[in-house]
Amino acid sequence: MRSVLIAGNWKMNGNMQSVIELVEGIKAGDPGKAKLAVCPPAVYLMKVGGMLDDSGIALGSQNVCDHESGAYTGEISAAMLKECGCRYAIVGHSERRSHYLESDQLVAARFAMAIAVGLTPILCVGETLLEREQGVTEAVVARQLDAVIELSGIGGIAGSVIAYEPVWAIGTGKVASPEQAQAVHAFIRGKLAAVDSEIAKRVQILYGGSMNPSNAAELLSQADIDGGLIGGASLKADDFLAIARSVQE
Ligand code: PGA
Repeated sequence: MRSVLIAGNWKMNGNMQSVIELVEGIKAGDPGKAKLAVCPPAVYLMKVGGMLDDSGIALGSQNVCDHESGAYTGEISAAMLKECGCRYAIVGHSERRSHYLESDQLVAARFAMAIAVGLTPILCVGETLLEREQGVTEAVVARQLDAVIELSGIGGIAGSVIAYEPVWAIGTGKVASPEQAQAVHAFIRGKLAAVDSEIAKRVQILYGGSMNPSNAAELLSQADIDGGLIGGASLKADDFLAIARSVQE
């Protein structure tokens, strides 16, 4: 069966001191049955990676460049992230798509670069509130997935984690209901199953968007929800660990 991953997306928060305290807090606590990953701001990857050595907690980046190397000021290559100890790389987060205008094709290219060096991309997909109201949630998610499948094939998806993050639920306190989330997760798995049922069964699909210790258990008990990508609540060690411990099984 699929294992459960609880990944913290720290976004652009914290400073050296708070990052150290957060890692120490997470390491000292009990994550229950879940596997943990943290995705700090890039400048803290080396520091956090060093602190996580032998902890069983994985390191991830918040993005990855769509090129191998060269004149791409401000970007960080997949190989560099690998060298920093990353196992995961978030790609296509809605904040990248909306604030930095990352297209489905750019996200797919970033995804492909992560796969090429053996990083596991955490591919974020999800609809805006307007798109949900217009009834095009599945079409949007399908389009975002198709761009990746077109470039990396279903084999690429096999080496990835998918995160369904409804944009209207991110950082808003408005969590998707377990039924709403499960419906989209089932849609994603069904879409993948139409191409390769074995891969569809294996791939982890995380939910993200205002997940916290009080709503996590119900979300994580859904058949197709295999973990969480946690923003705000991952900045407090106790909350992050409480979410992890709410995994049943
Ligand atoms: P949130 O963020 O938990 O603060 O809503 C989730 C995410 O953006 O990954």
